[in-house]
Amino acid sequence: MATHDDIALEEEFAQSRMTGGLLRRLFSYTRPYRRQFVLNLLLTALATISSLAGPRLIQVGIDRHLTRWNSARDAAWGIAVVSGIYLANLLLGWMLSVMQVRSAITLGQGAMNDLRLAVFDHIQRLSLNYFDRTHQGRIMARADSDVDSLDRILTWGATQLLSSLLTLIGVVVVMVSYDWKLCLAVCTVLPPLILSTAWFHVRGREAYRKIRGTLSRLTAATAENISGVRVVQAFGREAENFRRFTGLHQDYADRWVSSSRIFHTYMPLVNLLAGAATCIVLGYGGSRVLSGDMTVGALAAFVLYLGMFFGPVQVMSELYNTMLSAAASAERIFALLDTQPQVQDRVGAPPLPRLAGAVRYESVRFRYDTTPADRWILDDIEFEVPAGSTVALVGHTGSGKTSIVSLLARFYEPQSGRILVDGHDIGAHTMESLHSQLGIVTQENFLFTGTVMENLKFGRPSATDDEVVAAAKRLGADAVIRRLAEGYQTKIGERGGTLSAGERQLITFTRAMVAEPRILILDEATSAVDPETERILQHALEALFERRTSFVVAHRLSTVRHANLILVLAEGRIVERGTHDALIAMGGTYSKLHAEFVRAV
Ligand SMILES: Nc1ncnc2c1ncn2[C@@H]1O[C@H](COP(=O)(O)OP(=O)(O)O)[C@@H](O)[C@H]1O
Ligand SMILES: [Mg+2]
Repeated sequence: MATHDDIALEEEFAQSRMTGGLLRRLFSYTRPYRRQFVLNLLLTALATISSLAGPRLIQVGIDRHLTRWNSARDAAWGIAVVSGIYLANLLLGWMLSVMQVRSAITLGQGAMNDLRLAVFDHIQRLSLNYFDRTHQGRIMARADSDVDSLDRILTWGATQLLSSLLTLIGVVVVMVSYDWKLCLAVCTVLPPLILSTAWFHVRGREAYRKIRGTLSRLTAATAENISGVRVVQAFGREAENFRRFTGLHQDYADRWVSSSRIFHTYMPLVNLLAGAATCIVLGYGGSRVLSGDMTVGALAAFVLYLGMFFGPVQVMSELYNTMLSAAASAERIFALLDTQPQVQDRVGAPPLPRLAGAVRYESVRFRYDTTPADRWILDDIEFEVPAGSTVALVGHTGSGKTSIVSLLARFYEPQSGRILVDGHDIGAHTMESLHSQLGIVTQENFLFTGTVMENLKFGRPSATDDEVVAAAKRLGADAVIRRLAEGYQTKIGERGGTLSAGERQLITFTRAMVAEPRILILDEATSAVDPETERILQHALEALFERRTSFVVAHRLSTVRHANLILVLAEGRIVERGTHDALIAMGGTYSKLHAEFVRAV
């Protein structure tokens, strides 16, 4: 069976064809930087030409001023001039390169930044069904390493290709024009060069894959051990985990050693072949100089051009490999960007007005993407409550309580039926206008890194500190927050990890309050809190429910007792409805649940 790890690995090393369409779309991110892009290519071309001019200048120096001279003074003067030009050309080339690198980085990082933002923004907008079926690690990989792997192509791809091609063409043309016979002789080193390069790419890539594979296993193991450190310590697994970790590290080290061996065999081999080519030029070229078919200067230039030949070959073959893996990343990123949110505003959808909060479900049927087609998660849900009501949802776990309120928040859309608020179909209005009037507190009380105050204003950034404190006081959270190290300015760690569960929950309640929602949803919001916090909240809840329509999902039926309407769910259907007293009198499912609860306490 393929594990997540294996799939992640496979993805990381997947290769794909870099098609024209893919390249065009990728490079469309450089469009806002078009002037930089053109400038960059121009600078690259100029820098390449400048580097090609070097050997030619040396040839001129040797042939004009050293091998045929009348007076030593003239020759010395001539050499000085040529050297001066050579130096000036070097300086020019250096300046061009500096400018080219700067413009490439500005361009590449600008495009990368735009792409990263586009991915981030898109992920935020995707509907929950996407997150239901996609592993979080994969989404992170898209936003992170996939984008990074495009860096080399976006920043350097075009310029490296251009400068390598120009250099190669320039070198070959110049060498052929100098002496094509010598060129042919030099070509004898090409077959071993091509073969060894191919060997290196296959073996080197394989070794690199193995390194990356071990590295991602190592990273995963480290990450899991850190987040699970409590469990590790509680079960006394440190020694066993360390043993497994040591094995992974040894693997990692071994793979680096064997990969270095490949690399350090190949690089000297290329040098050796370049040396052999130089020998051929010196030997055969020397004889052609002696027979008067070639000048000494041309021979010298030939040797220098030869030295410029091997670099671009290597760069281009590397670039080819980079393209293949970048294509796979680009495909995955664009697939993500092309994923449409399942729930979207319809074209021209108007916003909802300020809501009073009368809610009506009209024969709502719903299933998740992954639910088998013969099953409904919610089947024919139908009810209506006036504004300001408190509605309690009860039923065994898995009966569909969370699903009902998720539809009200439009996290998902029902397959059939409608949900109306004050007579407006929520599906026909903008999501923003709905969400801004909705407050949701669940058991999973997620807080963001930042201060308590920042978290409290999350739903309404325009709230003043006084309004926040007033909301906290109403909920009884004020005293608890003031007891924290720095009160409202206390910094909260990742996911609120530095707070107690009760403190966290009081803050999430206050956060929902500050947003002044017209409709409040509490989904098992008080299930996980300690008795003290629950007592605090118990008083506050009464006050909260009075001012708005509220949906409460609760295990503890004490919270449910005073609801205006209790809906009892079983397997996605409403099986009983009414007030507490009426349902108890009926002696059905609710009264059994209630009896179970009373016994359990
Ligand atoms: N995101 C989801 N994707 C697929 N199935 C889900 C999802 N969430 C819940 N379910 C399934 O839907 C049913 C109802 O779940 P839920 O509404 O969460 O129940 P409750 O809140 O009453 O415990 C369960 O069978 C559950 O397994
Ligand atoms: Mg639930």
